[in-house]
Order: sequence, then structure tokens, then C-alpha cells
Amino acid sequence: MHERRFNPELAHRLVSPEREARWKPRAFLQRLGLPSGATVADLGCGPGFWTVPLAEVVGTRGRVWAVDVSPQMMQLLRERGVPGHVCPVLAALPDVPLPPESVDWVWTAFTFHEVEPFPAFAAALRRLVRPGGQVLVLEWRPDAVSPQGPPRHHRLWPAQVQEWLQEAGIHNVTLAWQDEDTYLVVGRRA
Ligand SMILES: C[S@@+](CC[C@H](N)C(=O)[O-])C[C@H]1O[C@@H](n2cnc3c(N)ncnc32)[C@H](O)[C@@H]1O
Repeated sequence: MHERRFNPELAHRLVSPEREARWKPRAFLQRLGLPSGATVADLGCGPGFWTVPLAEVVGTRGRVWAVDVSPQMMQLLRERGVPGHVCPVLAALPDVPLPPESVDWVWTAFTFHEVEPFPAFAAALRRLVRPGGQVLVLEWRPDAVSPQGPPRHHRLWPAQVQEWLQEAGIHNVTLAWQDEDTYLVVGRRA
């Protein structure tokens, strides 16, 4: 039934030193312009590879809602140690138990392709972000060079993700960044 969902038994792979070295997540997020004091939803947070650096960048005046469906992922997130302005939320996307228009940034990394129906997930992202806020979707390329990552037939082309976001009412949707394996789609709610 949840054939696309990342196996929580492999959660340690998501927080490996190799992955840290490959992404340098804090610097990556800072380059995207996340401001100190912002409220962020990290949807499909897993064991917190992005959650913790998001919390560092927004600082204690900000807040990070860390949402995942997997109790094992949430347990690992807690065990890794999260600061007080990170709020773990156990929930099954595309339902998000947070108030509409309540975050400045919606961040979802390597999760969009796991949450069906995709148009409903895009609509949930739009509901959650405040007017003027940003939606950021990091994903695997179907034509990636690396042998790592989810099955290729589960992956989504950036144009398809862009289309779902646009149809959900997100504006200025662009392919903001890509490398040979991954890509980042960014849009703004008007
Ligand atoms: C590939 S992992 C990525 C984790 C994290 N974003 C990262 O980049 O390290 C995808 C995550 O999405 C979560 N997930 C998948 N489907 C979900 C759903 N319907 N609701 C909430 N979380 C979901 C999985 O449990 C998993 O933790």
C-alpha cells in the first residue's frame, strides 16, 4: 500500500556522515535565504537531516514543525536531540494538522514522490504557507547519474512537480537549482 515510502529500518542512511559531507545542509539552506526568526514546516522530516540545520538557521526566535508519518523516524529524531523550537508532529501527509497560512517556508526534501495523491500534497503545501511565503521541494532526478536514491519509476520530473504546484495556486514556480542527481523547485504563495 505504501510502496513508495522510505523504509524506516534504513533511517541511519539519512543521517550518515557521507550525506552531511555531500549536502552541507546548513550552508545549503543559508544560500536559499531562509531568514532568522522564520517559521518552517519540514514535511517528511525523517530523522531530522534537514530539521536540525533548519532550526539552527531560524534560531530560537523561529520555529520548525517536523512532520513525519513514521514513529521510528520520530523516535530517531528525538534521540538525535532537537532544540526546544523544533516541534515534532506525527501525521500522515497530505493531511497536515497545522493551521492554514501558518508558516513562512514549507520545506519538503525527498518526500514529495512518496506522498500520493501528488496534487493533494501540492494543495496541502499551498494551504500551509502564508501569503508571500515560499514552498521548496527537493527531489531526485529520474535521470540521475548516481545509483543511489529511490526506484527510478517512483521519481518525478521537475516539470511535473512545477505543474502540480502551479495548479495548486503557488506562483512564480521555478526550477531553482539542480545538479546531476537532484533538483530544487521553489514557488511563492501570492
Ligand atoms: C526519503 S525520506 C527523506 C527524509 C528527510 N526529508 C531527508 O531528506 O533526510 C522520506 C520521508 O518521508 C516520510 N513520509 C513518506 N510518506 C509520508 C506521509 N504520507 N506522511 C508523512 N511522512 C511521510 C517517510 O517516513 C520518510 O521519513
